[in-house]
Amino acid sequence: MRAKSKIHPKRGKKHRAGDLKVKASRRVAAKPGSGTWRREVERVLITEEQIEKRIKTLAREIERDFHGREMVVVSLLNGTVMFLADLMRHLNLPLRLDFMGVSSYGLGTESGDLVFTKELRLDVRGRDVLLIDDILDTGKTLRHVLPKLRALKPRKIKICVLLDKPSRRIENIHADYAGFEIPDDFVVGYGLDFAERYRNLPFVGVLHPHVYKQACKQICRK
Ligand code: IMP
Ligand code: MG
Repeated sequence: MRAKSKIHPKRGKKHRAGDLKVKASRRVAAKPGSGTWRREVERVLITEEQIEKRIKTLAREIERDFHGREMVVVSLLNGTVMFLADLMRHLNLPLRLDFMGVSSYGLGTESGDLVFTKELRLDVRGRDVLLIDDILDTGKTLRHVLPKLRALKPRKIKICVLLDKPSRRIENIHADYAGFEIPDDFVVGYGLDFAERYRNLPFVGVLHPHVYKQACKQICRK
């Protein structure tokens, strides 16, 4: 799975102050009954309120650019679920929705080893496409997805991501709309996972390094 591939030696690195374009950092208090997994998140990077506010401004930008034409929203599974749902309800435009499934397989693989798990069903020929992903990291995922989508001959493709980690970029990929620029920390929540967990957190948080170090040890033993 793609999420399992994100065990990364740099993930424990402290981020430089000012990298994050939003006010961040408050410790996650372990609420009674909230389970240990909440404590595995070191700190909140982007709060629910910040996400909600930013999504509204993103939606206005997108509306301006797609005005007057029916758009096709193409969302990459699975990490986009929360972002997509919240963004869509603020998009005051006629649109159709479809999904593409992309996944890395195996443990410890990089996102270069990608497989498509779901193909697009809608016809996008001549259409304006808004391609949505949760996070633009190295850019390898979108480098694989874009040619596939371009082959279907849409009129235009614009890329929208919730998070952008420019310091990790390998491929020359640029997001037309990015919710938040973030430092090189491994983040979870609001759809983003580590080993398929944490997607249901309502905020974006930095995963405690001990979690992926431990996962790394278990994998290496196998
Ligand atoms: P890229 O291919 O390196 O650009 O990475 C894109 C994909 O990797 C995203 O759609 C996520 O599934 C995953 N990913 C990259 N960085 C993170 C992270 O910090 N947390 C969770 N998933 C991530
Ligand atoms: Mg994803």
